Formats: sequence, structure tokens, C-alpha cells
Amino acid sequence: MSTPGSSADLSTVDVFDLGREHEQVVFASDPASGLKAVIALHSTALGPGLGGTRFHPYASTADAVRDVLALSRGMSYKNALAGLDHGGGKAVIIGDPRRDKSEALLRAYGRFVQSLHGRYLTACDVGTTSVDMDLIARECDFVTGRTVAHGGAGDSSVLTAYGVFQGMRASAEHLWGSTSLEGRTVGIAGVGKVGRHLVGHLLDDGARVVVTDVHAPAVDRVRTEHPEVTVVATTEELVASDLDVYAPCAMGGALDDDVVEVLKARIVCGAANNQLAHPGIEKALEERGILYAPDYCVNSGGVIQVADELEGFSFERAHQRAAGIFDTTRSVLDLARTDGVPAALAADRMAERRMRDVGRLHGIWLG
Ligand code: NAI
Repeated sequence: MSTPGSSADLSTVDVFDLGREHEQVVFASDPASGLKAVIALHSTALGPGLGGTRFHPYASTADAVRDVLALSRGMSYKNALAGLDHGGGKAVIIGDPRRDKSEALLRAYGRFVQSLHGRYLTACDVGTTSVDMDLIARECDFVTGRTVAHGGAGDSSVLTAYGVFQGMRASAEHLWGSTSLEGRTVGIAGVGKVGRHLVGHLLDDGARVVVTDVHAPAVDRVRTEHPEVTVVATTEELVASDLDVYAPCAMGGALDDDVVEVLKARIVCGAANNQLAHPGIEKALEERGILYAPDYCVNSGGVIQVADELEGFSFERAHQRAAGIFDTTRSVLDLARTDGVPAALAADRMAERRMRDVGRLHGIWLG
């Protein structure tokens, strides 16, 4: 997926051009609490937009708008491919969550989300937590990702890691003819909430696991839980080592030209969002014979979980749905082979087809 308006400057560009693919962009302001938020709905073809609220100290409003437009578009594709009855939405709150977050600000934000009458459903993202969702929910009916005490599902990283593991099994089958990762070496960059759970799945399957993280306590925790894991000092060292699979589970942009050039792994499959640093990287990966399992295809376990919560959370049901990431990844890789295109493009095609074919049904008037 390209990032619309990624190089645009709000002072020189018509905001309608910047968000020309989007249905609605809402600017919400409450000076008394310091709230400055932007809510973007990319598409509601499949249902109300679902996506988290990111609380981040953007350098400018233009940066915040660019981010929310790209993120909400990404959610349309992720939700469509995950088979959810949800469109793509996302929100950003401009500010430093550690300094600027307050009850009044979150509740003011909740009132703006409420004013959209369910067109947008919010959840956690970078800088917001389930506790924040509980506060927002005091003003708003359209909130998920809540605390267990309030009927929520808790930490979404458990199912995200499980889904990534399923994507990895499907990728292994596609490339090596077996879903098992036994005897394979898997490198994980970032052993935070998701990466740490992924380590457990891989070891259970008989894989050798190599990890790295910039945060020493994260590495220490994995070492304590799984002493058999190998630790390397940097991501640079990890990607250049003898891996069969590379799992980026830290920040976006993990796959840039330098990484693709040195990467020894034959499969890339990880949780991080927006792994491709720029358009064209997916082709470079393919030319090097590296199978890239599209990030938004394999990391949808978290959104599957928060979507399930809207029905009254059932871990078994959500787990079952996350297990479906295996079949989805397999279909994406099969389509890529049939159409002769990179898997990233095949995933986009499948998501767009579902938005078009299922979204069209909303045109059938129910009376
Ligand atoms: P987290 O913040 O718990 O873990 C990220 C880990 O990466 C941290 O331990 C951090 O120290 C480490 N890290 C940061 N920069 C690094 C670098 N340059 N090299 C090595 N390690 C580095 O985040 P979480 O929840 O585990 O998410 C990981 C990724 O997966 C993120 O990109 C997130 O957006 C994505 N994701 C997470 C979902 C979830 O349910 N938690 C759902 C879908 C995507």
C-alpha cells in the first residue's frame, strides 16, 4: 500500500486532495483539557471503522494528519483481510501521553467519538491503554480493548503473537512444503509484548530462536523464561546472521534497502506494522528470493480480539478466528504465485476485492 500524501505539506496542499480516498476526517478540539485529536474514517464499506487511538507528540498537525490518514487506510485493509465486518478508522491525539493525558482530556475525546454515532469504534494503540479506554467509555458507547474488569479482553498481544505464528507456519509450508518450524532458526527483533509470546510458540514447535532488543529488561525476561534462546546485541547483527526466518516485532520500517541486501532469512514474518520502508521493497525482497508475509495479514490477531470483544469476549472464539490467519496467509501466498506478484500486492488485491464485493451488498436496501 502506498501512503497517501506522504510527502505533502498541509500549507501547500488541499486537505481534500490529501485524504481523497477517505470518507471523513474529523478535527476535535477542547482547549480547556488540551485535547487536539484527528479521527479519520478511510472506508466504512464493510462496517463501522475500527482502529485504535494513538497518543503521540507529533511535531506538527500535518504530521498527525498524515499519520492518521495512512493508519486508517491500513485498518481498512487489515480488517477486510481478517474477514471482519469493520471498515478502516483510526484516531490520533496530539500530545505527550506521559505529560498531557488526563481524565478530562480522554473524556472530552470520548464525547467526540460518541458524536460519530458508531461510525468509528476506538481501541488502544501506541500511547493509550485499556485503562484509558475505560475512561473514554464513560462518555462513549463505541469503545473496545477495555480492561478485564470492564468486560474487556485484556492484552491483545497474546493473539497477535499466535496469529504471527500461524502466518509463519503457512509461509513455511509455501516455501518448504511443511508447516513445521522444527530445526529452523528464527530471529526476532523486539521481544516486547508480542515478540515474547512468539518465542514460546516457536520453541514449542522445535525452532531455534535468536532475539535482540534495545531494552535490556525485555531481553532479561525472555532469558529467564527461556534460557535456551540465543541473544545478539543488535538488529544489524541479527539480520546478517544465519536465519531461516526473520520476525520484525519492534518498530515500522524494519525492511529497508540495507536490511534486504544482507538478510539471510528466506522468510520474513513478524508483528510490526508497516514493515516495508518504502514502496518497491517488496519487489527487492522477491528478487532476492525472500518470501515476505504481509504485516497486516499476519498481525491481525489483536484487531480480531478487540472486534470479538464487541460481541462479548470469548477467548475460544477469538482464538479460533486468529487461527484462521493460517488460511488467509496461505490464500495470499497462493494468489501471489498465481498472479505472479509480490505477496504484499496479493494481500492488497484480496482486501480490495472483499471491500468491493461484500461492501457492495450494503447497496441492497433492507426497507
Ligand atoms: P512493545 O512496545 O511491547 O515491544 C516492542 C519491543 O521492541 C520493545 O521491547 C522495544 O524495546 C523493542 N524495540 C524497539 N526498538 C527496537 C530496535 N530498534 N531494535 C530492537 N528492538 C527494539 O510492542 P508490541 O505490543 O510487542 O508490538 C510490537 C510491534 O507489533 C509494534 O510494531 C506494534 O505496532 C505491532 N503490533 C502489535 C499488536 C499488539 O497486539 N500488541 C497488534 C498488531 C501489531
